[in-house]
Amino acid sequence: MKVVLAKTAGFCFGVKRAVDVVYEEIKKGTKVYTYGPIIHNDEVVADLTSKGVGLINTIEELKSITEGTIIIRSHGVSKEIYDIIEKQGLKTVDATCPFVIKIHKIVKEQSELGRHIIIIGNNNHPEVEGIIGWCSNNYTVIENAEQAENLNLTGVDKICIVSQTTFNYKNFQDLVEIISKKGYDIIVLNTICNATEERQTEARQLAKESDAMIIIGGLHSSNTRKLYEISKLECENTYYIQTLRDLDLEELKSFRSVGITAGASTPNNIIKEVHTACQK
Ligand code: F3S
Repeated sequence: MKVVLAKTAGFCFGVKRAVDVVYEEIKKGTKVYTYGPIIHNDEVVADLTSKGVGLINTIEELKSITEGTIIIRSHGVSKEIYDIIEKQGLKTVDATCPFVIKIHKIVKEQSELGRHIIIIGNNNHPEVEGIIGWCSNNYTVIENAEQAENLNLTGVDKICIVSQTTFNYKNFQDLVEIISKKGYDIIVLNTICNATEERQTEARQLAKESDAMIIIGGLHSSNTRKLYEISKLECENTYYIQTLRDLDLEELKSFRSVGITAGASTPNNIIKEVHTACQK
């Protein structure tokens, strides 16, 4: 049986890097904290807790820490957080995804040049909160067409539009089009990261070429479910599993080719375990 593991299966580059950084820091023996959960995967967070990694959720909690290393996750944080960490005399290990750092630089530069920053994204998302914290003057967060239609910035001529990295490209274009009609001097920087789209495109292609497909991920992971739906359209024998335990290996033996992919929060050890078992 031919078994193909998708190159984009599991963590995106930015999340993988952040998780690896935490395990590297643990080895050094000092007290390690993450500012927010490093990833939305209970298994990984529980493993880190069992290894002594502390979780900081608020600025107040951060201010009460006097010793150790603070790891900043891939979503990034505002400048204020870096300043507090420094003031507390703590060590920072910055695992902010380089695609997010690029946005921080853009909004800092453009707002210093006098442009009003428009962030297309979700106001409550930690990545957007971090981006806001790098704007040196006024900004507006826009998430939907109604907010774009209602945009009315008195006294503002120049604006700069950026996007949250995981925003849908089509929706971004639609919102930019609405704002463009309002007559501002406008700079648009598409800062969407295409990791999600690449994963879905590869899953679709692999499903077309395989007799059976295995999709690994949490049952409540919306991006894993999306992969399942995409795959199912191309390949009737698509299996949605959380771990190897859910897989019927005997049933799988009747297929000549099997493709495997996984959602963005599926740890590598789970993917590897499934991949190895299918190859036996
Ligand atoms: Fe991942 Fe970085 Fe993109 S964290 S989704 S590679 S912005």
